[in-house]
Amino acid sequence: MNLATVILAAGKGTRMKSKTPKVLHNICGSTMLSYVIDAADGAGVKKIIVVVGYGADWVAREVEGRAQVAHQAEQLGTAHALMQAGPFLSDFKGQLIVLCGDTPLIEASTISGLINSHRNAGSMATVLTAEMENPAGYGRIVRDNQGNVVKIIEQKDATPEEKQIREVNTGVYCFEADGLFKALNQLTPNNAQGEYYLTDIIERYVGEGRQVGAVTIENPVEITGINDRVQMAEVERYMRGRILKDLMLSGVTVVDPPSTFIDRRAKVGRDTVIHPFTIIEGDTVVGEDCIIGPGSRLINAVVGDGVSIQNSVVIETSMEEGCSIGPFSHLRPGNVLGRGVRVGNFSEVKKSVIGDGSKVPHLSYVGDAAIGKNVNIGAGTITCNYDGRYKWPTRIDDDVFIGSNTNLVAPLEIGAGAVTGAGSTITRDVPAGALAVERSKQKVIPDWRRRCKNKKD
Ligand code: UD1
Ligand code: CA
Repeated sequence: MNLATVILAAGKGTRMKSKTPKVLHNICGSTMLSYVIDAADGAGVKKIIVVVGYGADWVAREVEGRAQVAHQAEQLGTAHALMQAGPFLSDFKGQLIVLCGDTPLIEASTISGLINSHRNAGSMATVLTAEMENPAGYGRIVRDNQGNVVKIIEQKDATPEEKQIREVNTGVYCFEADGLFKALNQLTPNNAQGEYYLTDIIERYVGEGRQVGAVTIENPVEITGINDRVQMAEVERYMRGRILKDLMLSGVTVVDPPSTFIDRRAKVGRDTVIHPFTIIEGDTVVGEDCIIGPGSRLINAVVGDGVSIQNSVVIETSMEEGCSIGPFSHLRPGNVLGRGVRVGNFSEVKKSVIGDGSKVPHLSYVGDAAIGKNVNIGAGTITCNYDGRYKWPTRIDDDVFIGSNTNLVAPLEIGAGAVTGAGSTITRDVPAGALAVERSKQKVIPDWRRRCKNKKD
């Protein structure tokens, strides 16, 4: 199979009102352009060229390894845009698919269908068309009495009769690469917009007696283009629905799809239940049999099987099976949690390793710490890891018991099985098996109540 695709994306995207090139805006955590590339890739196209105007270097960085980038300095029309890909395709023979960079809903199966129909008919060009309730703004497909495609006429160049046509050009095509660039070179901008129209190639081929075909798309929503952020939000909503549907069909329970937001690249295992108001972002991987939410946000997290995460934020943290997080925990980047770790109510953990079976159940801050197995961190424990200038590590070995409300002033090492007394501020290392208590002796003044009352009299 010899396939290539050119993705047209040099349009200014002015209505996005953004510094970022339009096709690099995100839909469910991935750039618009990456969806189009995925669709082409899914249809078996490996050679991909993106034509960009503004921000070519930026786009090239984003698609590195997946696509090449051609630069169209001036937007002189869709034919001119396609011609900019010519130098990347000088030796290419086969089918060339033209796609748009701002239509992320296009599916691989649609592209495959277009290629198959093109090959079966032995055409020079095949246009993907759509039946639209409201065709305004699109190029119209003009057919003869036998139903053969004759030409595509742009809205601005159309006669009143042609404007009645409801079959439109989606802007997606399959061409024989052989001879295409020669033919494009001969097009002229004699039209209402003074542009080099790619659509003119159709009339030209038909005039030369070449075979031109058309395939009508089943679901026109796939070719919805994004021009502004309102349309972007609509497309995102549709995409979100598609992602959730795929997850549900693969065995994930999504209790309330409208309040659940899962990025395209995230993975969730079977029999996991996702409760409302949950956001799963980036390259997060969630195992099987987990309970996620309500009200949780996971960003690039790796979560083992059978984990529960309630009302919590988990960022760039990995955890093994059986962990229990929240409600109201904040796991900041860089944590590695072993099996069955518990991080509970109002605890914050940062850049720390916590061994199997250890617990940080209540109201604690643990930062830059290496905690062994089966350690209990009492309520209100704080690792004092920052001296105003440097961050220092705390090491707590297996089976340590940290009493409630302990300040652990780093750098610090607490040996295996050691115990600290509640309320202590620990500033020196504690050997294995020892008890460290640091607090002043309790004073008890008897009959205090009575003496106070007497004072008042
Ligand atoms: C184009 C088609 C129209 C079709 C519609 C579908 C032409 C002449 N018309 O119209 O028949 O119904 O798409 O959406 O082709 N682009 C460039 N460089 C340019 C011009 C455009 O890269 O110089 C890119 C745009 O970024 C966009 C795509 O080509 O991704 C289509 O361009 P656009 O201006 O939206 O074309 P339309 O006028 O909508
Ligand atoms: Ca358009």
